Amino acid sequence: MQIGTTLSQYLIEEQRQHPTATGEFTMLMNDIEVACKQIAAAVKKGQLAPNVLGSAGTGNIQGEEQKNLDIIANKLFLQNNVWRGHVAAMCSEEMDEIYQIPPEYPRGKYLLIFDPLDGSSNIDINGPIGTIFSILRSPSPNPVEEDFLRPGVEQICAGYVLYGSATMMVITTGHGTHGFTLDPDIGEFILTHADMKIPETASEYSINHSNRREWEAPVLEYVKAREAGKNGVCKKNYTLRWVGAMVMDVHRILLRGGMFSYPIDERTRAQGGRLRILYEANPMAFLVEQAGGIASTGYQRILDIKPTKLHQRIPVMLGSKNELYDLLKAHKKYALENNLEFHHKEI
Ligand code: F6P
Ligand code: MN
Repeated sequence: MQIGTTLSQYLIEEQRQHPTATGEFTMLMNDIEVACKQIAAAVKKGQLAPNVLGSAGTGNIQGEEQKNLDIIANKLFLQNNVWRGHVAAMCSEEMDEIYQIPPEYPRGKYLLIFDPLDGSSNIDINGPIGTIFSILRSPSPNPVEEDFLRPGVEQICAGYVLYGSATMMVITTGHGTHGFTLDPDIGEFILTHADMKIPETASEYSINHSNRREWEAPVLEYVKAREAGKNGVCKKNYTLRWVGAMVMDVHRILLRGGMFSYPIDERTRAQGGRLRILYEANPMAFLVEQAGGIASTGYQRILDIKPTKLHQRIPVMLGSKNELYDLLKAHKKYALENNLEFHHKEI
């Protein structure tokens, strides 16, 4: 696909590769695109727009404070997707339960899962934020929660939108990972990053260092080796980068390589980790693998996990092959010493 192609053209040409396609998926992607452009427009106004920034004074099921923009972005996703007849049901970080399509609208064949506004702590400081989404085929015309609990390998599409200095949408349908930049003059996403490939070797890592005292031994071993730089086993110096918005931190890894992790630690052990499998870990893992990288819990490929709960959390470590090999080797050693399961056969 040629640089300069619009996202719509890219999707229609993809559709033509599948002679049995009905065009429903293309239209669903179009609705997602519209929602994201509306979110981007609200984000760009910043403090100038009344009631966009700031806290909503409510909390979500996960005990997190909701910002106005979390709620606005969630509404925009629902509004754009509820009436068209492409989705059978939806699931959002901001809603306790799955969202059923009201009876007045037709139901489609897809399940749409999203984190409408990721990295909320960056909203009020004019920092980078994003939207993450994942699409599954619905096993039933009247889906229930259980239908959403499917391993990430079954995703038919995953993507994110980064509201950064420029707005970008990065997607995969299982044929590579492709990046589109929003041209604000014409309001179209334009292909700027075709077939993104994560460099196999890199010198950056991304982790919230303030949780160091709580990490598991293999994560500490990996980070200590990077801190030692050219005097240690890595024999080169590293840089730490942590934006605190997964979309931005993962986007940097897709472009420049490196390792991103929100590992399990003693603070988050009871809840299984920090990041949510359905709308954070799975879509990012799909994008990273399609770009030639690795995405793991430390012990298992993320995309192989069968979720048991809608808002389930898991440990996440992803990025460049060689960085992940080092990290996974440390996990393998720790697993052997502590009689833990380790599923990566390639390590
Ligand atoms: O949605 C979760 C999230 O905001 C991610 O985008 C980000 O990586 C992480 O939480 C930041 O967590 P912390 O505030 O603990 O650094
Ligand atoms: Mn999030």
